Order: sequence, then C-alpha cells, then structure tokens
Amino acid sequence: MSLKGKRVIVTGAASGIGRATLLKVAALGARVAAFDVNDAEARRVVDEVTGAGGDCRYWHVDVVNEDEVRTTVDEASAWLGGAADVLLHLAGILKGARVDLATFPEATWDDVIDVNLKGSFLVSKHVAPAMQQAGAGVIVLTASGAGVTGGSSSYAYGSSKGGVHGLAMVLRANLAPYGVRVHDICPGNVVTPMKVSVIEKTLIDTGDQAAYEAEMAGLVRPEGIANVMAWLASDEAADVTGTIFTR
Ligand SMILES: NC(=O)c1ccc[n+]([C@@H]2O[C@H](COP(=O)([O-])OP(=O)(O)OC[C@H]3O[C@@H](n4cnc5c(N)ncnc54)[C@H](O)[C@@H]3O)[C@@H](O)[C@H]2O)c1
Repeated sequence: MSLKGKRVIVTGAASGIGRATLLKVAALGARVAAFDVNDAEARRVVDEVTGAGGDCRYWHVDVVNEDEVRTTVDEASAWLGGAADVLLHLAGILKGARVDLATFPEATWDDVIDVNLKGSFLVSKHVAPAMQQAGAGVIVLTASGAGVTGGSSSYAYGSSKGGVHGLAMVLRANLAPYGVRVHDICPGNVVTPMKVSVIEKTLIDTGDQAAYEAEMAGLVRPEGIANVMAWLASDEAADVTGTIFTR
C-alpha cells in the first residue's frame, strides 16, 4: 500500500496513536502536516520522520482555538501544495477518570467536551470545504467505544466521544454527496500515555495489583491503530463506510 502523492493532516501527532499514525503515513510516502500543542514531543517525532527521509512539518495548533485552526489549515494547505486529501484527527484528552458524578467539576467537563468534541468540529469545519470543492477527501475522527458502546471511566470523556460519533454521522451524510468519505474510529484499549495514566490511577485508588496487571497486559499497540488509520487514508478503503472498531 502506498500513500505517495497524498496530502495528509494528522492532529495529536506528538504522542500515542497520533504519533504512530504520523510515522506510518509518512513511511508510506504521504506528505504530512502534523498538528499538536506539545511542541517538544511533536518536534522530536517530526525530526524522526524527516531523519528517515519522510516529508513532514509541524504546526502548533490548539484545536479549540478557531482562529488558530483556520490559519494553520490555510498555512498547512499551502505547504502541502494544495488542500489536504486526508484528515486523521486524533487530538484528544481524558480527564475526570473515576470522579463521582456528585463531585465532577464543571471545568473538567468543559475542558474535555471542548477539546474532544468542539475540537473535532472546528478541525472538520476548516478542512472539509476544500475537500468538498475538490470533490474528494477522507476525514477520520477519533471517537471511542467509551462513548459508543459504553464503559468510560469519565462522565465527560464518554460523553465527548459519543458526541464525536454523532458528529461523524452527520458529517458522513452531508459530505458523501461531495465525494468526501467520513469515518469515526473507536480504538480499543491502546498502550498510550492517556490510557496508562488512567490504569495507574485505578491502581492507586484500589490497590488491586492483579487487575492492574491484567489491564496492562490487555492493551494493544498504537501501531495497530495506525495501520487502520493509514488504510482508511488510502484509496484501498474507498468502499468502506462508517464507524470502525478495533480491538
Ligand atoms: N489510548 C486509548 O486506549 C484510546 C482508546 C479510544 C480512543 N482514544 C482516543 O485516541 C486519540 C489519541 O489518544 P492517545 O491515547 O494516543 O492519547 P495521547 O495523550 O498519547 O495523545 C493525545 C495527543 O493529543 C494532543 N492534544 C491534546 N489536547 C490538544 C489540543 N487542545 N490541541 C491539539 N492537540 C492536543 C496531545 O498533546 C497528545 O499529543 C484521542 O482522541 C483518544 O481519546 C484512545
């Protein structure tokens, strides 16, 4: 499979699944604009990509800041040599794990809904029009089983990811007539800083070492999700639609 000639935006590219996705799509020949807020880590990944001969550039973008998203999508499109063919949107946060409903802080709720749901909306809003104009494109948002089939550790996180799933369904219906394919992916439990911090918090709260070890042993590698992301970005996935679950 090759992504040669594809212009791709990857958000959340500094860490975890986004990092693995950036490495994968660049290795397959895509030209990649990487977005994140963690400048130091993002620069390290981009250096790794370019050091290996990949074609990649980093932009600091806070996905909840519409001006920043708009400006950066424009700048990235100019650098990419045209509108993005593919958006792989992975930026996200998990806060409020194992916090009771009665004491769940409003600020935590707002933060998580903003980054995960509003961020998905803003990035899609500023990437999709050029795809519509081109009559082609792929948008992959990152939901989670946490918001689609249940089982989240956080009221805000589960709600935000249910919202992302809903947003992807609306985008899918509205953009399909323009030739833009929209998916949301629901990764299983993946060994990333986000997931590991929740499992470690559970261990601190419960002291249940056996449960901790079982959960850690059940995590899948970010590279497995990155493979799916890269395939969805490719023309080989042209006949696939809808929500993608991974183990
Ligand atoms: N790890 C899992 O088990 C799992 C399961 C289901 C879904 N997900 C989702 O996958 C995506 C990637 O998660 P991960 O586990 O790799 O987490 P991670 O914490 O390793 O990576 C998330 C990245 O998003 C970036 N980010 C956070 N807020 C941002 C903002 N406002 N603007 C721009 N970038 C921002 C972070 O700096 C980081 O690089 C997230 O959307 C997450 O909710 C993860």
